[in-house]
Amino acid sequence: MVQNSQKSGEKMERIVSLAKRRGFIYPGSDMYGGLSGTWDFGPLGVTLKRNIMQLWWKLFVEERDDMYGVDAAILMNQKVWQASGHVDTFTDPLVEDLETKQRFRADHLLKEAGLSPEGLSLEQMTQLIKDNDVKSPNGNALSEVRTFNMMFKTTVGPIDDDTSISYLRPETAQGMFTNYKNVLDSFYPDLPFGLAQQGKAFRNEISPRDFIFRSREFEQMEIEYFVDPAKWEEAFEHWRQQVWRWTQCLGLPDENVHELEVQEADRAHYSKRTIDFEFDFPIGKEELLGLAYRTDFDLRNIQNATAKNMEYLVKGTNTKFVPHVIEPSFGVERAVMAVLTAAFTEDEVNGETRTYLKLPEHLAPIKYAVSPLVRNKTELVAKARELYDGLKKKHGAVMWDENGNIGKRYRRQDEIGTPHCVVVDFQTLEDDTVTIRERDTTQQRRVPIEELVK
Ligand code: GAP
Repeated sequence: MVQNSQKSGEKMERIVSLAKRRGFIYPGSDMYGGLSGTWDFGPLGVTLKRNIMQLWWKLFVEERDDMYGVDAAILMNQKVWQASGHVDTFTDPLVEDLETKQRFRADHLLKEAGLSPEGLSLEQMTQLIKDNDVKSPNGNALSEVRTFNMMFKTTVGPIDDDTSISYLRPETAQGMFTNYKNVLDSFYPDLPFGLAQQGKAFRNEISPRDFIFRSREFEQMEIEYFVDPAKWEEAFEHWRQQVWRWTQCLGLPDENVHELEVQEADRAHYSKRTIDFEFDFPIGKEELLGLAYRTDFDLRNIQNATAKNMEYLVKGTNTKFVPHVIEPSFGVERAVMAVLTAAFTEDEVNGETRTYLKLPEHLAPIKYAVSPLVRNKTELVAKARELYDGLKKKHGAVMWDENGNIGKRYRRQDEIGTPHCVVVDFQTLEDDTVTIRERDTTQQRRVPIEELVK
């Protein structure tokens, strides 16, 4: 067990190190010593992230007739967050180290002490800490457990008073609920239909940690799927299947993805049923994404707060109701981390350990690397450049690589997950064929340029 967690810890460290070294993910504000819970995506990371986000948009918006994309403002009227319950209840349990005044998530400390915080009230957590003499990571006594609201507060405009308070959105969902009526009036969609949105969300996490897993600024891809209340179970099951389709498209092995039926005491305030989809990250089995039945909680809150009618009139009938909502909610950073975890592979080539990212080709940031065998032969370089330009026009994601010897280039491309390396050599000048070396098998074969470009 200890060996396993040591191994997992090492794997995590190696992924974090590769991500930084090869330009996927850097710590936020790196030059200034960082800013806890923030990460910057480098040139390869941003491409990987976009490939994931574009795939999601294609599967869940473009390929469907019942989905409408929106891109709502991040800053919203404070009434949105009052009505949604976030101002009162979007909290995590906090404890303080009585000596250092450092703050921690109480449930995390309890879990680390081998205790179970699920479903416990603040008082019960405080008691559990006392009974088991749980200490802070610095070995000091802990305060009572209290709640901490995770929304980032700000003010809008030049006047700083109660009316100018706003929040950085902690979920993209509310931007869809506030546009439900607008989309209904613009498009008259049949039920069921859904809104989809991708974008930044912000949470002032008490203890951001585990690389990009728990950040203070991250991206979500969310769907609010509006249904006839009598048919919510059918829609829930539909989206459960779609989530599995999604994890498969990300190349995550089915055996590393697990469904967790969340018990009532642990569900969000708006949910009547939630399944967390967990993944075997190197840090353990943790939440990758969630699927929730939000009932009519949000539309009713809007209706109550604004006196605007949120009912749906079934076409050709007099039947009216406030639709219920199924919400699949996907975290982009967690998807990136799961994809990197599943892809991170070590094997042995010619007696040496090789590290490579076995990324699915549709997600790999670079699809082809093109190299001249040597860089000081003008004819070879010109031929390779011509091929590079042709491939780039077609695939976009093509890299020119002429640094170091061929072996080093292959290692570098393996580490960033490039599926195909193309080498232009002296034989190319004679017969217009090139060597293609495949990442996963390290096999090489000769292919006519014409065939490759086609
Ligand atoms: N609208 C519902 C909602 O926001 P959630 O379970 O709080 O539900 C959905 O968040 C997903 O967003 C999570 O499953 C996770 O993938 C991602 N997520 C949440 N908090 C995060 C954080 N601090 N850092 C990175 N991703 C996070």
